[in-house]
Amino acid sequence: MRTIDDLSVDGKTVLLRVDFNVPLDKSGPVSIRDDARIRAALPTIHDLLARRARIIVVAHLGRPKGTVDDALRMAPVAERLSALLNQPVAIADTMAEAVADVDHQVVLLENIRFDSRETDKDRAKRALLAAELRQGVDFFVSDGFGVLHREQASVSDVAELLPNAAGRLVQREVEVFQQLLDNPKHPYVVILGGAKVGDKLGVIGNLIPRVDALLIGGGMAYTFLAAQGFSIGDSLLDADSLEAVRDFMRQAESRGVQIHLPVDVVIADTFAADATTRIVPATQIPDGWQGLDIGPRTSQIFAEVIAGASTVVWNGPMGVFEMPAFAAGTRAVAEALIASDAMTVVGGGDSAAAFAELDLDASGITHISTGGGASLEFLEGKELPGLRALETTV
Ligand code: 3PG
Repeated sequence: MRTIDDLSVDGKTVLLRVDFNVPLDKSGPVSIRDDARIRAALPTIHDLLARRARIIVVAHLGRPKGTVDDALRMAPVAERLSALLNQPVAIADTMAEAVADVDHQVVLLENIRFDSRETDKDRAKRALLAAELRQGVDFFVSDGFGVLHREQASVSDVAELLPNAAGRLVQREVEVFQQLLDNPKHPYVVILGGAKVGDKLGVIGNLIPRVDALLIGGGMAYTFLAAQGFSIGDSLLDADSLEAVRDFMRQAESRGVQIHLPVDVVIADTFAADATTRIVPATQIPDGWQGLDIGPRTSQIFAEVIAGASTVVWNGPMGVFEMPAFAAGTRAVAEALIASDAMTVVGGGDSAAAFAELDLDASGITHISTGGGASLEFLEGKELPGLRALETTV
């Protein structure tokens, strides 16, 4: 993979695609809840600036679906980037404006998804936007790891029109995930949580032949429990995934892969921070109650499995950790990762955010990925369009 070391960017104009899709607080004036994705792009920006490149940054915020949404303007992002770089960051509405303004060194283009051509399924329509994006630009640098799984004008199409390279973040993320895919040290343990089992079927299928153990928690665990015939009360159920889940359990058994499901759970009489709660065996969730966290015995078992691993990947919280009553399982897994000497990789915005929200020091984690869907698709073994495009030589 070409990197920015392979580009002679001195005095040139670089189109830099990043993933600044940060969580926003919209309760008052729009503000940024977590700027980790902006910080993650700084090494590339600093490197390019040190070589006197002019940078036009392209990013998206949310899913405005091709129309202008004032709540998704890039202004708060420009402000944060400017503070982090300690230099002005101008915003441009169009590429022509950006090119004219770029003597300021860093210009941020307004939310690229305000333009419907960015995400159009029709390649010809995307190509029109890509052709605009390449005007007045010498190089394309791809540093938005979190969007590499999207076939979009500013991610893959424009990359094919310009001499291109991966930025430092993409370089590091790809190195880590490629190692997980090709050469993980065993025992290799993957912890999956979060609500939607349907989104993770592909990755589970690809992981079963590679891992030694899968630990399943979070909302998705209840579909696994239901697939085994247990009653799960009012807990989350993805009925469409039941058959696939049964098939995974059979595959895992025949390959000697351990799938650990919760043995106990914290149940609540309603989905609320002040709900009445109980801890029950995972096989005995009464009607009218829903599981919102793994129980203490499960946390202990998961921590023991993590302690014995040489590689650990974690994607998705173990419970509704935003509510303190249901945070203990996620905290236990996070602490087990921190205590581990293994290669530890955390993917998906929620599990990464859990460290900050639970006030845990994540410095001992080998790698916290900025990619949610992108990191899962990488582990699934899928080809990412944004990476494939970087193989093009212009
Ligand atoms: C993300 O937040 O995972 C990336 O920015 C991609 O966003 P998307 O799922 O809206 O394409």
